[in-house]
Amino acid sequence: MALVLGIETSCDETAAAVVEDGRRVLSSVVSSQAAVHAPYGGVVPELASRHHIENIAPVIESAMKDSGKGFPDLAAVAVTQGPGLVGSLLVGVQAAKAIALVHAKPLVPVHHVAGHVEAAFLAHGDLPLPALALVVSGGHTSLFEVPEEGVHRLLGRTRDDAAGEAFDKVAKLLGLGYPGGPAIDRLAEGANDQAVEFTIARIKDGRTDFSFSGIKTAVLLHVKREGIPPVADPSDVPPRVRDLVASFQRAVVTALVRGLVRGAREHHPRSLILTGGVAANSLLRRESERAARDLGLPIFIPPLALTTDNAAMIAAAGFVGLRRGVRGDLAMNAEPHLPLG
Ligand code: KG4
Ligand code: ZN
Repeated sequence: MALVLGIETSCDETAAAVVEDGRRVLSSVVSSQAAVHAPYGGVVPELASRHHIENIAPVIESAMKDSGKGFPDLAAVAVTQGPGLVGSLLVGVQAAKAIALVHAKPLVPVHHVAGHVEAAFLAHGDLPLPALALVVSGGHTSLFEVPEEGVHRLLGRTRDDAAGEAFDKVAKLLGLGYPGGPAIDRLAEGANDQAVEFTIARIKDGRTDFSFSGIKTAVLLHVKREGIPPVADPSDVPPRVRDLVASFQRAVVTALVRGLVRGAREHHPRSLILTGGVAANSLLRRESERAARDLGLPIFIPPLALTTDNAAMIAAAGFVGLRRGVRGDLAMNAEPHLPLG
């Protein structure tokens, strides 16, 4: 039995978790800063770092306490090394180093997106491999082939905005608050998603890449053309705004599902994984489940607490890294642009 403490501070969640053998969550604590950044319509990096530094020790302490284990029981300390906001990552990396040093434990660096993929294994156990994993979050939109657990081959990614970022920017533009994804998801329910037509970028050089900035700009142009003012009362959103966000959401989901299906046709996986914060989107869940049925493949979508940023997925990925001999040392740095696959 190997217990791994995972630490995650890449963006605006301070999180720590203890996971056994990469499969059983003993504790998972997430302290969200959403309320801190909401007035700005997006994450303010300096505020994020300052809140991480205040929250990191109490969050780790409660994750340890909830797990019923002590630091000496740990097999390793895993931490998100990147990608993310450098000032945020540094807080988690430094905390992990301190614990590893004091308790003489191995330090395992984890790629944040590998953590998102690992969430599927944590939630659903051993999956039929190779799998095709679509990671859709506020910072990432990437498609990977996963030949074995912990191994990622990048097939495509966004060339500009991440899908979640597009949701957040469109919501900000319309005065719908931050984070924008959940608000748009809710408002789109029952609205007319054919009201506004958006062209979905087709990338012609053979890669399964994505692009969302065109759809976002099209929303901006539509708002200007129609003279739509920002929503004054988020509990009373006019029908034309609801139709607009429903149409926007439909376009984003169509692009994502198209990429997933194309990836599956080209690479013949035995299962599909949908993960990352945007995997909470009800239309995306519905449409990717439908696509999986059409392809005759099982699809694994972790529960909400594991698809949005959390440290259990980092601990689970850390366990895989530990077994593979991945180690960080005390000179390990945060890597804001760390590549994967
Ligand atoms: O994975 P995550 O918690 O953090 C990152 O690593 O970025 O993802 C956060 C993103 C935000 O952009 C948020 O707007 C989006 O996930 N999101 C959603 C929904 N819930 C969260 N997007 C669309 N529909 C949702 N229901
Ligand atoms: Zn994330």
